[in-house]
Amino acid sequence: MRVLSGIQPTGRFHWGNYFGAIRQYIDLQCEDEAYYFIANLHALTTVRDRDVLWQNTLDAAMDLLALGLDPDRATLFVQSDVPEVSELCWLLMTGTPMGLLERCHAFKEKKAKGVTADAGLFTYPVLMAADILAYDSNVVPVGEDQVQHIEVARDLARSFNHQFGETFVMPRAKVLETSAKVPGTDGEKMSKSYENTIEIFETPKAMRKQIMRIVTDSRPMEDPKEPETDHLYQLYWLFADDADRETMAAKYRAGGFGYGEVKKALADAADGFFAEFRERREQLAAHPEKVRDILGDGAQRARAKAGEVLRRAQEACGVKARS
Ligand code: ADP
Ligand code: TRP
Repeated sequence: MRVLSGIQPTGRFHWGNYFGAIRQYIDLQCEDEAYYFIANLHALTTVRDRDVLWQNTLDAAMDLLALGLDPDRATLFVQSDVPEVSELCWLLMTGTPMGLLERCHAFKEKKAKGVTADAGLFTYPVLMAADILAYDSNVVPVGEDQVQHIEVARDLARSFNHQFGETFVMPRAKVLETSAKVPGTDGEKMSKSYENTIEIFETPKAMRKQIMRIVTDSRPMEDPKEPETDHLYQLYWLFADDADRETMAAKYRAGGFGYGEVKKALADAADGFFAEFRERREQLAAHPEKVRDILGDGAQRARAKAGEVLRRAQEACGVKARS
């Protein structure tokens, strides 16, 4: 079984990305084969500053490696290092109904807001389908918001196979655990677009400062509180073990404590949790050549597979002689 997923380098990773996606990718790398890539071509639809995009891409690679992605188990590469995918994208594009893309939410939402969309954003799901189909992927772990795009990939694979004969492996989505919807500093879902994130690799001092800024309700300290519905507790829960979760929950229910105390406990727990990752991140940053080698090696492996699938598709639709 082959697992594949991509993550856009649109900014530094935050706690939501870690608990909602990255940690689960890392757990899945023990599957038979795992391919993970940094989706810089997709990010180009929003990041229009060359230095920012380039730096984000390197940071994303270092972050993923520091967080436990093991290049001996998983193939890690940068999307644009596999040009075969862009070629495959064109083959798929020729059979993609306009209506299918008009229904895709990223485009639909932009249009509804009156923002002019470009062809890159409009055809974004076709490139994503090419990403998936190019590696004969079986399982694609993604957040809920990407499930529609996996459906597009399945539709395109089905229709190509129908017209030209069995060519593509049918992928399926594995929806990541949505119970891990990590709240941000304002209590809403943590997201770059809400500017409420706490980044994974912030310095411990900056992280503490962010934690101290988390909004809390203004009920009197003496009131007992329900822990499960409190976003500060929900964040603490992510980092604490069972015993500490229980102790903290009991304090909430008993009342008579301050949120400052919870914030301090959260900062200590998060510090301890990320310490090892932070150390590994520093080692990688000191040896960027190692990171480049890993990405180069990953691209080579990815190209070998994508080349094989592209050839199959080219032969099937008649742009290359059958071998
Ligand atoms: P952002 O909303 O900050 O732009 P992305 O859309 O780039 O984040 O998300 C990348 C991955 O991280 C997706 O798989 C998404 O489901 C997951 N993710 C992002 N924010 C959260 C969150 N607050 N809780 C759980 N998962 C999240
Ligand atoms: N569109 C995905 C996101 O924004 C990233 C992505 C690009 C992807 N290509 C992919 C995810 C292929 C899974 C498979 O999160």
